[in-house]
Amino acid sequence: MRQKIVAGNWKMNKTLDEANILASEIKGMVADEVKGNVKVILCTPFPYLLPIKNLIGQDTRIAVAAQNCSEHESGAYTGEVSAAMLKSLGIGYVILGHSERRQYFGEDGKLLAKKVDIALKHGLSPIFCCGEPLEVRESNGHEALVKKQIEESLFHLDAASLQKVIVAYEPVWAIGTGKTATSQQAQDMHAVIRKHLASKYGEAVANEITIQYGGSVNAANAKELFSQPDVDGGLVGGASLKSREFAEIIKAM
Ligand code: G3H
Repeated sequence: MRQKIVAGNWKMNKTLDEANILASEIKGMVADEVKGNVKVILCTPFPYLLPIKNLIGQDTRIAVAAQNCSEHESGAYTGEVSAAMLKSLGIGYVILGHSERRQYFGEDGKLLAKKVDIALKHGLSPIFCCGEPLEVRESNGHEALVKKQIEESLFHLDAASLQKVIVAYEPVWAIGTGKTATSQQAQDMHAVIRKHLASKYGEAVANEITIQYGGSVNAANAKELFSQPDVDGGLVGGASLKSREFAEIIKAM
């Protein structure tokens, strides 16, 4: 059975005190709620990775993830954080290719392929984001664009490496807008992604890949989205900053 994942992407929010409160509330609330095959991942800003990881402690149902890493191994790259550094903190996951990184920091498919490689080299599982802007959806180019994003950054991997990747489908028009994709739109795209992975790696491999949906997931729409056969969880932004709502989303999985 595929691993189900509900991840909270905190983006650039919270002070350390606020982050500690949020993480301990989530830990307390989800303690009895997380079902056997569900993992909760808290994607925190870099400075909070270690404190939040320590706060979570030995609870294997909750993991901590970074929101980015450098494509470089090490060296004179002021302000950057390497995959090796994350691994040395005991971090197991890193978000790569979030649309905000693509849009504001000019990250393209070629760069993201390098980031995917270096993350995997250091034993991190990439949460690889893909998704189309509104104008592409409106001109019906969404399937082609998402397939291209996956080809550019993942299709050079061998099957064993791909199996360590989590895919997050996030239509850009649904991120932070309150405008969620319908459960049917999400299911349709997830099925397209899985089929595309199957075309390269075979059905058995594609069927094992976790595909999360992201874009205005909240306590009210999570159950409907997560009930879709190819939707294996969520990558939650705004609603993950409120412990009670995030716990409701986890319960919906
Ligand atoms: O990484 C999370 C996504 O960008 C979704 O953000 O739930 O605030 O729309 P959102």
